[in-house]
Amino acid sequence: MCGIVGYVGSQSALEVVLAGLRRLEYRGYDSAGVAVLADGGIAAAKKSGKLVNLEKALVDQPLPAGAAGIGHTRWATHGGPTDANAHPHLDNAGRVAVVHNGIIENFAELRAELAARGHVLGSETDTEVVAHLLAEECSGGADLAAAMRLVCRRLNGAFTLVAVHADAPDVVVGARRDSPLVVGVGEGEAFLASDVAAFIAHTRSAIELGQDQVVEVRRDGGAGGAGGVGVVVTDFDGRPADVRHFRVDWDAAAAEKGGHASFMHKEIAEQPRAVADTLLGRIGADGELLLDELRIPAAELREVDKVVVVACGTAFHAGLIAKYAIEHWTRIPCEVEPASEFRHRDPILDARTLVVAVSQSGETMDTLMALRHAREQGSRVLAICNTNGSTIPRESDAVLYTHAGPEVAVASTKAFLTQLVACYLVALYLGQVRGTKWGDEIQGVVRDLAGIAGAVERVLADMEPVRALARSLAGAGTVLFLGRHVGYPVALEGALKLKELAYMHAEGFAAGELKHGPIALVEEGLPVVVVVPSPRGRSVLHDKIVSNIQEIRARGARTIVIAEEGDETVLPCADHVVWVPVTPTLLQPLVTTVPLQVFACELAVARGNEVDQPRNLAKSVTVE
Ligand code: G6P
Repeated sequence: MCGIVGYVGSQSALEVVLAGLRRLEYRGYDSAGVAVLADGGIAAAKKSGKLVNLEKALVDQPLPAGAAGIGHTRWATHGGPTDANAHPHLDNAGRVAVVHNGIIENFAELRAELAARGHVLGSETDTEVVAHLLAEECSGGADLAAAMRLVCRRLNGAFTLVAVHADAPDVVVGARRDSPLVVGVGEGEAFLASDVAAFIAHTRSAIELGQDQVVEVRRDGGAGGAGGVGVVVTDFDGRPADVRHFRVDWDAAAAEKGGHASFMHKEIAEQPRAVADTLLGRIGADGELLLDELRIPAAELREVDKVVVVACGTAFHAGLIAKYAIEHWTRIPCEVEPASEFRHRDPILDARTLVVAVSQSGETMDTLMALRHAREQGSRVLAICNTNGSTIPRESDAVLYTHAGPEVAVASTKAFLTQLVACYLVALYLGQVRGTKWGDEIQGVVRDLAGIAGAVERVLADMEPVRALARSLAGAGTVLFLGRHVGYPVALEGALKLKELAYMHAEGFAAGELKHGPIALVEEGLPVVVVVPSPRGRSVLHDKIVSNIQEIRARGARTIVIAEEGDETVLPCADHVVWVPVTPTLLQPLVTTVPLQVFACELAVARGNEVDQPRNLAKSVTVE
């Protein structure tokens, strides 16, 4: 949450920073601001509300272009989304400007200290103290990078900071602890940003920063100069730090809407490709399944006696589905827990526990804290992640990257499907090393997975009836979702999507639980979406859910049934049927989720909501 951009180079810093913020606005959109170094000083502008408010303000009161600048798009934590609380924050002399993502936990005591020394703090944020502390250190003789190191050593909490100083017009300095920051290195220019989307239009060459590091990018000089720009990375004590260079493997077009009405539309449509890409290169020459980075010896994986999946939001739902595959294919008990709950209940973990952390962004603080706790207890952690260069994979013992490409819409769609694919691959991998699955069985499932892209394509080709249905329900107050077996987490995900996007009351239930309470909610006309298991799989479940549909319909519910093609048994009890292609039972969520995404998206549009940036949410939640 909160998007940060810094730039130094020969282009207009203002333009580059604003363009970067547009790409990062998914991270937070409560307010936005920019500061540029020009004419020996700092010129800044900030506005509450979306970036467009700032852009309008800049038309009325333009800022100089500048050769270095910083920008911020905010998801408020400390202090409401007002102009005064928007970033950048400046010191009293207006010589230092800083933007921040995260929470500085000891800001109250630092603020009191600064006030006692005569500083006047004009916002309610935790961030502003940093501008004042940096200014103090610089006036004591430190350069901006040295000042940043000194200040960071005094901060508790999580932070990415990016700062400029009027006395150093060719320098931008950044720092990170537990919040994301990547460096982009172009020809004679450099970028600091919360993620690569901010600079991908300019360069694909990136540097991943480690924990507790400070980076200085300086034009025309500095160590390790790259085309007239020096990038120097140290730890908070000033010791040179090791960094990892990487190349971003998607291009700028991937982060554009490409003719779609919203990023969410585009990302839903991209799912066949995303699923196919996540499967690419997974089978080695010897027919064995491959993960991306595996620093866990096979002998240890053979000893694993429990798997725990930790994740948040939609990724948590992917974890719930993973449990069915992991337990079925490996016979290892699997627990799934929201990452935010995990470490606070003193979970039983040891060296034989494998923790799987699922995260699109790789930066979700709850998930990061859960995996750190697991590692402290001696467990191994395997990350499933969509973002190269992010914190969660870097701190894990093994990584499987999903290749969904950039996901910009706040509500997760294509990342979810690829997380499912990755979870199935992890389950198969465990089955492979532990010998609970034969090689040909594994390849059979991988073949089934390879067929999913086409199945999703077919689902997407026939979504107009789902859209029409969604539009007809724009005035509904509540929608319920029911499922069984792997369809149960799908029901939870369908309800979550509707809450996130349409701001409607929506709940998902295990269909068998209906009779134990939720059926009391059913009244005349209530829309109930039911995800029906394949009649060919656990047919006993299929028949039971058909009975459940009859029970709710008898009580007046309007039933919307998602069923496998050819399953005509649902016809008598369904007001609407959405057909999905036949898939193996465990893989069915890959197709049944798709109509629910389309349904929520269309309903949200019909209600006049902005689907890419739902109210109060942020895509990457880097606070606990
Ligand atoms: C936020 C987003 C959700 C997402 C969750 C986990 O809450 O709004 O869409 O599922 O974070 O994000 P992650 O990046 O860890 O998958």
